[in-house]
Amino acid sequence: MPALTLDYLIRHTTLRQLQVFEAIARLGSHTRAAEELYLTQPTVSMQIKKLSDTIGLPLFEQTGRRIQLTEAGRELHDACRDIFGVLSHLEMAIADMKGLKRGRLRLAVMTTAQYFMPRVLGEFCRKFPGVEVALEVTNREHALERLAKNLDDLYILGRQPDGREIETRPFAPNPLVVMASREHPLTGQRNIPLDRILEEPFLMRESGSGSRDAVYRLFAAKGKEPKVRMELGSNEAIKHAIVAGLGISVLSLHTLTLEGTDGPIAVLDVEGFPIERQWYVAWPRGKELSVVAKAFFDFLMQDGVRMAQDLARVLSAVRTPTASRKRSGTRGR
Ligand code: PGA
Repeated sequence: MPALTLDYLIRHTTLRQLQVFEAIARLGSHTRAAEELYLTQPTVSMQIKKLSDTIGLPLFEQTGRRIQLTEAGRELHDACRDIFGVLSHLEMAIADMKGLKRGRLRLAVMTTAQYFMPRVLGEFCRKFPGVEVALEVTNREHALERLAKNLDDLYILGRQPDGREIETRPFAPNPLVVMASREHPLTGQRNIPLDRILEEPFLMRESGSGSRDAVYRLFAAKGKEPKVRMELGSNEAIKHAIVAGLGISVLSLHTLTLEGTDGPIAVLDVEGFPIERQWYVAWPRGKELSVVAKAFFDFLMQDGVRMAQDLARVLSAVRTPTASRKRSGTRGR
């Protein structure tokens, strides 16, 4: 078996083989890879055999019905990610030279930004109809895990991460406010002391959520702790629990974008709130952004900032509680 040199690799490996290998690794099946690439199964098996002969080691191992990457397979998989990343960058750069902004934009946003980012993406896609967007909505912890693995082009985070390996730019405010049912006795009251809301049962986001961290940090700084009645894994689940009279919570004001000022949830005027936060667009330091990612970044810093300012004006009405908005009638919604 000849030693594996760069020259040998270049002469014996084809990009098509790497594409087949990547598809099997991602889909966990030769059959599904063959379907995705419109190839027959014998062709797929033959391409993988040639690739593994060139490398000189097996790339997959079979455990029961599952196939898994071997150590050599994992190395090759990492290399494929880089190779295809560079090629898709080339594709977009060429498309850009031809004046076509085309390609794929992969964004991971935290759940607090899921209310705002689709608006920005809507306008962006109208301007660049050739761009295909994959939007991953997740909490802070998972967004940071994705960033560490370099799975997306850009990330929207609610707080600057520690460490110097991540590049960030702030672009819009993301205030966290105390929310209660419109029928709650505290709704419409002014200057509610922090201690008063600590008597109320709290609905808290799951661990790993940046909103949850911010709330605990605010209370810890005052030597206090909320009485958590229930943990829920999404902003929407918490809003429903608030309306069901299960407790109060602290969420991003943006979660009320659709309900506006007259919905069943009210913002309470509590000492120390809102927690004024910012959204940041982030990416791994040193990563060269694709042409499409750069176009989106520029769009976000201009049009996105303007859209956020417009929305902040609308949301400021929601954030200013007035006694008159409290409904009369049944309690405990
Ligand atoms: P998250 O959003 O609570 O979904 O993690 C975080 C944030 O705004 O920091």
